[in-house]
Amino acid sequence: DKPLRVAIAGLGTVGTGVIRLLRENAALIEARAGVPIAITAVSARDRSRDRGVDISHIAWEDDMTAMAARDDVDVVVELVGGSDGPALVLARQALGRGKSFVTANKAMVAMHGMELAEAAEAGNAALKFEAAVAGGIPVVKGLREGAAANRIERIYGILNGTCNYILSAMESTGADFAETLQEAQALGYAEADPAFDIDGVDAAHKLAILAAIGFGSRIDFSAVACTGIAAVRAADIAQADVLGYVIRLIGMADMLDGEPGAVGEAKLLQRVRPCLVHKRHPLAHVTGPTNAVVAEGNFSGRLLFQGAGAGDGPTASAVVADLIDLARGDTYSPFSVPTRAMEAVPAADPGGR
Ligand code: NDP
Ligand code: HSE
Repeated sequence: DKPLRVAIAGLGTVGTGVIRLLRENAALIEARAGVPIAITAVSARDRSRDRGVDISHIAWEDDMTAMAARDDVDVVVELVGGSDGPALVLARQALGRGKSFVTANKAMVAMHGMELAEAAEAGNAALKFEAAVAGGIPVVKGLREGAAANRIERIYGILNGTCNYILSAMESTGADFAETLQEAQALGYAEADPAFDIDGVDAAHKLAILAAIGFGSRIDFSAVACTGIAAVRAADIAQADVLGYVIRLIGMADMLDGEPGAVGEAKLLQRVRPCLVHKRHPLAHVTGPTNAVVAEGNFSGRLLFQGAGAGDGPTASAVVADLIDLARGDTYSPFSVPTRAMEAVPAADPGGR
């Protein structure tokens, strides 16, 4: 059978994880996809760097945006990062040429996801970003497909592995903030600029994406009220412990006052904050780089999605799941409704609650 031909931009933690996974599980991936998945081109900044994977027989592009124009590429996978710049140019060029686009780049999806989804729909291509939210947890698919029949009333959870790694290490061993952040960076969990993790921006990107999927609204990252964990001290964690709580960075999205999607009536309230979580709540037991997302549907009840939120293996797993979907011919909108059916849901005043 004709393979699905894939170009990969970005050969860091996630990109090399994808190459390893496609090779190690090639037989089962082909059986499930129906066709082999072949990497025909790659790109990164430094061609000479040893990445621990053999890419000698794969075409190299110095300019990653050139991959969108290659005839031997059906799908472009972007694992570079950055909300603008070359990643966005590549996305626009690939979708503009009718090539499907898979990304782990939550910053770009949170800022430009609606434009890209519309470009995908216009070009009969697909935009897929399972890996952009909560690493290896299939929460995009879970909300979009598993909870498709529900009116989602609330989404909340732990959306940043680096912050959760730091907070739970400070809690269990009294570890130092800066030292634990360095560990998270060495393990490949943190963003290129770790301020995105620590300041809550990465969690806010993911929350804005999840809210759009869950509530059928357009992504509105600018409306997320965001406070990170930089001000959390060991003494705060110790005091919370005495009172029966742990501290977790929680992203929360609620639809207030009216039916979701009803313009002028519904209000989508989105915020990311360090919260006290009671030790009996399931989120209090989520430690390390693990993420957990709770979605409350009006028929499903409370759904809990939990798993590794960062790291090469889990994130690669989500990227390759998107590729398998594409090989099977799934080019549906990544959102719970096609973007043309989305109504703008006015955001609540972020300071309002
Ligand atoms: P890395 O920093 O490990 O890798 C980034 C890659 O992009 C590197 O190979 C780098 O090249 C390449 N790159 C950077 N700038 C350019 C450029 N201008 N042109 C060509 N290539 C470039 O990042 P990660 O793998 O950790 O993350 C990649 C994406 O996945 C990001 O969007 C991130 O937010 C997302 N993500 C990461 C997760 C994780 O756990 N790490 C989890 C979920 C999502 P070179 O190697 O030559 O420097
Ligand atoms: N830096 C992110 C995190 C990577 O720590 O959760 C996964 O999105």
